[in-house]
Amino acid sequence: MCGIVGYIGDRDCTNVLVDCLEKLEYRGYDSAGIAVLDQGVIKVSKCKGRLSNLRDKMEREGKPKGYVGIGHTRWATHGEPSDINSHPHGNKRITIVHNGIIENYRQIKEFLISEGYSFVSETDTETVAKLIDYYYSGDPLNAIIKVLSEIKGSYALGIMFRDFPDRIYAVRKDSPLIVGKGENENFIASDVPAIMKYTRNYYLLEQDEIAEIKKDQVSFYNLHREQIHKEVNTADWDVDAAEKGGYEHFMLKEIHEQPTAFKTTVTPRITDGLPDFSAEGFDIQRLSAYSKIYIVACGTAMHAGLVGKYVIERLARKPVSVEIASEFRYMDPLIDDTCLMIAISQSGETADTRAAMELAKSRGADTMAIVNVKGSSIARDADMVIYTHAGPEISVASTKAYMVQVSVMYLLAFMLAYANGKITEDEYRTYTEKLVSMPDVIEDTLGLESQCQFVASKLLNADSLLYIGRGLDYALSMEGSLKLKEISYIHSESYAAGELKHGTISLITEGMPVIAVATQSSIIDKTISNIKEVKSRGAMVILVCSQDVVVEDGVCDHIIRLPEADELLMPMAAVVPLQLIAYYTAVLKGNDVDKPRNLAKSVTVE
Ligand code: AGP
Repeated sequence: MCGIVGYIGDRDCTNVLVDCLEKLEYRGYDSAGIAVLDQGVIKVSKCKGRLSNLRDKMEREGKPKGYVGIGHTRWATHGEPSDINSHPHGNKRITIVHNGIIENYRQIKEFLISEGYSFVSETDTETVAKLIDYYYSGDPLNAIIKVLSEIKGSYALGIMFRDFPDRIYAVRKDSPLIVGKGENENFIASDVPAIMKYTRNYYLLEQDEIAEIKKDQVSFYNLHREQIHKEVNTADWDVDAAEKGGYEHFMLKEIHEQPTAFKTTVTPRITDGLPDFSAEGFDIQRLSAYSKIYIVACGTAMHAGLVGKYVIERLARKPVSVEIASEFRYMDPLIDDTCLMIAISQSGETADTRAAMELAKSRGADTMAIVNVKGSSIARDADMVIYTHAGPEISVASTKAYMVQVSVMYLLAFMLAYANGKITEDEYRTYTEKLVSMPDVIEDTLGLESQCQFVASKLLNADSLLYIGRGLDYALSMEGSLKLKEISYIHSESYAAGELKHGTISLITEGMPVIAVATQSSIIDKTISNIKEVKSRGAMVILVCSQDVVVEDGVCDHIIRLPEADELLMPMAAVVPLQLIAYYTAVLKGNDVDKPRNLAKSVTVE
């Protein structure tokens, strides 16, 4: 979604803003702009399209020069992507950038029109800028506080006043924003990678807090204008973590980072060979007391939850329901104070997941967040937090975040199974040991890269394809299909293999690719039968399976055999070729792999 940056210091502000915006490109955007205080005048440069368009425009029309400014990458919600609708918005004395949605902007706009204001864009943001102007009479903080009491919705705002060239303001509610603390320079940004080149130190802005940022001082206020003290955080990951490190795309780098991400997430949670979440403040007894678990998430994170459901139910015999967050929030669910809700999210900012968690809380359920971004909203809202330590995930297509989410699901499943008396201590140890050895298996799976590249070359011209599997393999098929769709733009669907003959098999025509996943011995024969059904109707079958699966000649066109591993843990190996097939298909099609069209990395609106 939209990205916000702001700078005040001694450097050339335009360069810093564009540089920081570049680091936010991964969030997804359709236009970009900056505003810089240039010798007492707010100079705005903005346009539709990529940052390169903005750079070209500034080359042609002249770059604003100054030491204080704000910048934005926009992901359109109100009004099409256009030069006019791009941020910043405002007038000669006030300019703002905004991430989020102002729900009551129409009423505000009508009121402002009646007060003589005119509007040039279709955005909700322009109404906020003009409402600040309406209330502004020389005291910026006062005007901002008045506006915050009137606007409804979600927002992160960067605000600049012509009359106050020594400062910028920032405020947030339900949209992320941090304040970067440098030496004689300070920043605002939607997330930490944007400013990592300049500083690792940052403040997390909480709900309804206002930051007043000067070159050498940052002050925080609440809505009553009382000053607040905040602690500085320091990003603990390497600057290189947010760079491509020699890979052509972030996605490929992140696929290759999976063994390390797995280790950094799992190893600190193992004590004496067994899972241990005491550092997170909960134990096995607390976990086992819940009557039911709801896992709520979106997209890839939801698919990680599906693997969790299979494993928890299979081992711990505890009922688990996996719900799409955007559905759950309007479902009137049966969740109550005997239940645990686990919210899974890479960004920790997904609006639907947050709302679902809020609903669960309001019904008395305990909440646990499995989140990658430290200090994010979902992490802060939850009763218990397990941080996955994947490092920054820049590519819109999530890969290493899925891997670590799944690894945490396994740790929880083992714990619950032992707590419920469904596995012995020996089995508990053996499962944990096997899990801990998975990074080597994932590493070996990465060796299948050239086979995946070859398979990708066979998918290029497909209009549509199917992913099929049963049980855990079906959960994986869903992830494989989503990955392919989002970056290759080829339509695909995942289907429970046994369900095909109830309708979907009619889609199969000569040469249509079907990617089948078969790693679970108890159902492999069934899946092979389903493969034969599609093959005999002309499908081109690609099978991703365990080493020892026996397949008669002519049943599959290509077989990718996974390294040996316990079959319960196979999803962590099997997902890798699915990620690589999607990646290489997108590369071969010449797509913008890390920034697929229409998508945003962190979906902070409903
Ligand atoms: C995955 O490749 C997607 N880009 C998307 O489905 C993502 O997983 C989903 O939007 C959830 O995001 P979150 O993990 O940050 O909550």
